[in-house]
Amino acid sequence: MSVEETLTIENAKPAHIDELRKICIATTNEHFKKRPELVTLLFCDYYILCQPELTFILKDGEKIVGYIMGADAGRYVKEFIPLFKTAVRKVSLIRALGLSVRPDKTLIKQGFDYHLHINILKPYTGKGYGKKLMDKLVETVKLRGAKGLYLGVGEDNDGATRFYKKYGFTTNKRYKGWLSMVMKLK
Ligand SMILES: CC(C)(COP(=O)(O)OP(=O)(O)OC[C@H]1O[C@@H](n2cnc3c(N)ncnc32)[C@H](O)[C@@H]1OP(=O)(O)O)[C@@H](O)C(=O)NCCC(=O)NCCS
Repeated sequence: MSVEETLTIENAKPAHIDELRKICIATTNEHFKKRPELVTLLFCDYYILCQPELTFILKDGEKIVGYIMGADAGRYVKEFIPLFKTAVRKVSLIRALGLSVRPDKTLIKQGFDYHLHINILKPYTGKGYGKKLMDKLVETVKLRGAKGLYLGVGEDNDGATRFYKKYGFTTNKRYKGWLSMVMKLK
């Protein structure tokens, strides 16, 4: 049996946060690797702590090797800053980087009411698991009545951009080194 055949997808729990943070940092770009606390604050902690029912993990036996984290964007916009105030203050770069919750509000008004982050460790990429994780999240948010999904991807991340396009996302706009991508679900 190959390693890949043992991979499973399951719902995550807040207790998985340390393993998920490690994957979040391992899969980010060189620029963000220098600011691990910023990366986990922006792209990991809120999701697994506040909306764990929308995080799914990819496991090779007992080891977590990837994840998709979703969020009801309306809740995210209301909750993120108040709940993570202390951490946000510490990494005040958020404002400078233009990564505050403001762009999310515009997207929600346009009917994209859920968003996501997906990361898989290198030996496990390119084997169809990204699509499987995406299918799992899409199926879950559709059951909750989601109208659309959005995400942000680094402008230099060609591989992920091609993956999202293949899945059905289109480019919404470019801002400050990021591509905002969207997909209607209804
Ligand atoms: C981006 C990522 C989630 C995609 O998951 P994956 O498991 O590698 O992708 P899959 O094997 O499920 O590919 C699904 C489809 O997308 C295409 N695709 C995936 N990665 C691609 C790439 N780098 N270039 C071109 N096409 C790609 C595949 O060809 C496949 O098409 P097919 O259905 O016609 O075969 C994963 O590669 C990853 O985590 N990368 C590192 C971290 C990262 O960049 N995360 C995104 C941050 S915004």
